[in-house]
Amino acid sequence: MELFTKTLFLCLALAMTHGAPVQDAPVGDGDASSALPDRCDGIEFDAITPDEKGITFFFKGPYLWRGFRGSAQLSNESFKELDDILNGHVDAAFRMHNPDNPDHDHIYFFMADKVYSYYDHVLEDGYPKTIQEGFPGVPTHLDAAVECPRGECMADSVLFFKGNNVHVYDISTKVVKTKTWSHLPVCTSAFRWLEHYYCFHGNNFTRFHPVTGHVNGTYPKDARNYFMACPNRGHGGGYTTPKCSEVELDAITIDDTGKSYFFKGPIYMRLDTHRDGRHAFPITRSWAEITSGVDAVFSFSDKMYMIKDDKVYIYKTGAHYTLVQGYPKTLSEELGIEGPVDAAFVCPNENIVHIIKGQDLFDVNLRVSPRSATAGLLLPLSNIDAALCGPEGIRLFRGSMYYEYETVLLLTTSRIAPIAMPVTSAMLGCRDEE
Ligand SMILES: *[C@@H]1O[C@H](CO)[C@@H](O)[C@H](O)[C@H]1NC(C)=O
Ligand SMILES: *[C@@H]1O[C@H](CO)[C@@H](O)[C@H](O)[C@H]1NC(C)=O
Ligand SMILES: *[C@@H]1O[C@H](CO)[C@@H](O)[C@H](O)[C@H]1NC(C)=O
Repeated sequence: MELFTKTLFLCLALAMTHGAPVQDAPVGDGDASSALPDRCDGIEFDAITPDEKGITFFFKGPYLWRGFRGSAQLSNESFKELDDILNGHVDAAFRMHNPDNPDHDHIYFFMADKVYSYYDHVLEDGYPKTIQEGFPGVPTHLDAAVECPRGECMADSVLFFKGNNVHVYDISTKVVKTKTWSHLPVCTSAFRWLEHYYCFHGNNFTRFHPVTGHVNGTYPKDARNYFMACPNRGHGGGYTTPKCSEVELDAITIDDTGKSYFFKGPIYMRLDTHRDGRHAFPITRSWAEITSGVDAVFSFSDKMYMIKDDKVYIYKTGAHYTLVQGYPKTLSEELGIEGPVDAAFVCPNENIVHIIKGQDLFDVNLRVSPRSATAGLLLPLSNIDAALCGPEGIRLFRGSMYYEYETVLLLTTSRIAPIAMPVTSAMLGCRDEE
């Protein structure tokens, strides 16, 4: 438990990619004997964008870097026409997010007054176009661009940066709204990663809110400590992804929209974003009031219930989580059960939360008020850390092992524990044994 918390807490973006081989690229820190630039020298990137597979590309002049590790290569090796057509330099790039549209997941490159669309690294028919034709109302000679899906922005949009102005382009209505964010540095590239927005400037970056432009926390930060593998860099030093055999969870949940998370000590990790890599963040970044971890978490309709000691915090689920007014309340007041509890889960389309406390399972109907817990049913297992119910059935996590049951009835009537299975990197982003 100790080790897992310590190793996950101060984490380095690229380290989590162990569990997500999509980001992998040849490892190397820039070969001193070649003429290729080394991003560990401190590069001001022209553009940064993921491709349709979730691999992040960093561009500078005629070069690109693929993923968070590895050395430079000529851009035209990955994007054929890029070098000769674009004269070896892009102004801005982003990956289209517009699921209802055939352009979804295409990468767009901007150079002077032209736009180029690629899918699967092939230039699409009809491109290049003028920016005026492809994105009417968006200025030429851009500095940066980043996609902003509905939920994070009002509608599926693109933020185009030029100087201190941000031109917010609504993809379906083609309406452009211009804002001035003078407090932000001029971004030479912009990047959305795991629902967070980053403005890159010089060798630094600043995280901002995509609607308000607000910056919280201590910025700028040096990109070399977070977005690339550089010798003797990275905050926290010595960060390693935990081995799967050392994993231990506090809580795990999946909500109605399919977002899934696990929680351990002060950190959480989103689990359904493996295309773009996985990364651990402090819980307080998304749930500001949860300052000392959780015992159990479950999701019901559009709410997330987070339990710690004898308190329940209820958050409304949206692009961001907001604490419902009047919370936290005590467990006995809210759910009719005394804390502390070990784990809790709700199965899809059910109104009952199943709460595990010691070796007992209690049911609370969330549709009746006041709420009360049924008498406890004895489980075949004890010391459960976390539990999840999804389309595959119920998973109970204990240390680095998990147990599967098809239904709650089977869970409470079987007297024999099913076979323990080890958690995998695909499930939890941990590191398989070498
Ligand atoms: C890429 O560009 C370099 C330098 O401009 C050129 O020598 C090389 O032939 C190009 N490679 C491809 C695959 O087009
Ligand atoms: C990067 O940020 C540091 C502060 O964190 C600042 O001292 C430095 O001047 C910045 N460098 C550039 C190139 O913006
Ligand atoms: C900054 O903090 C405020 C208040 O907590 C919050 O509403 C806003 O979303 C935060 N912005 C970012 C970029 O996290």
